Amino acid sequence: MKLVAFCAFAVCCCSLASVSTKRVERTLERKKLQEVLIQLTAVKATLQHSELKLNTPPMDTEDCCCLSALECYRANLHVQFNTTDRNHRKLSRSLKNHLTESGLCDSQRANSSCQDCASHPKENATEFFNRLESLIQKGIERLSTI
Ligand SMILES: *[C@@H]1O[C@H](CO)[C@@H](O)[C@H](O)[C@H]1NC(C)=O
Ligand SMILES: *[C@@H]1O[C@H](CO)[C@@H](O)[C@H](O)[C@H]1NC(C)=O
Ligand SMILES: *[C@@H]1O[C@H](CO)[C@@H](O)[C@H](O)[C@H]1NC(C)=O
Repeated sequence: MKLVAFCAFAVCCCSLASVSTKRVERTLERKKLQEVLIQLTAVKATLQHSELKLNTPPMDTEDCCCLSALECYRANLHVQFNTTDRNHRKLSRSLKNHLTESGLCDSQRANSSCQDCASHPKENATEFFNRLESLIQKGIERLSTI
């Protein structure tokens, strides 16, 4: 009888701990995304007059293709823009952070049936940053509701 009670107690503690761990994770993810948003604003201000055209995922990227979209933004940022800039480096690092990935995307596995980065139509830098910003904002809203 004592053993049963102990087991019930242990199970109960375990599930409580996992609920609060999840909550801590959500908070950390949300903080990270808010940080990305601030860094993004700084980088956007310096680059919005750039003449570059960049392969840009659509505004309404499906959840299952979230990770491919994120990878596409990262690859473009890495290849197309000057990476010696401090804000830029910070943004690139934040976008690679696992908290950014888990906060933004439900599915942590790359989906090979999603559109290839190079096949997304090219947009100007302003549009590129606006869409990335909207993806991050959606992530923050999502984390605030769960
Ligand atoms: C990259 O940015 C740094 C600092 O903003 C600047 O000094 C450097 O000249 C830039 N390099 C190129 C190739 O634009
Ligand atoms: C992969 O993406 C396609 C649409 O592009 C979707 O129908 C499918 O469910 C996704 N698969 C997974 C495992 O998310
Ligand atoms: C950038 O692209 C968007 C959407 O295609 C367009 O509305 C905007 O006028 C363009 N901005 C510049 C500076 O070319």
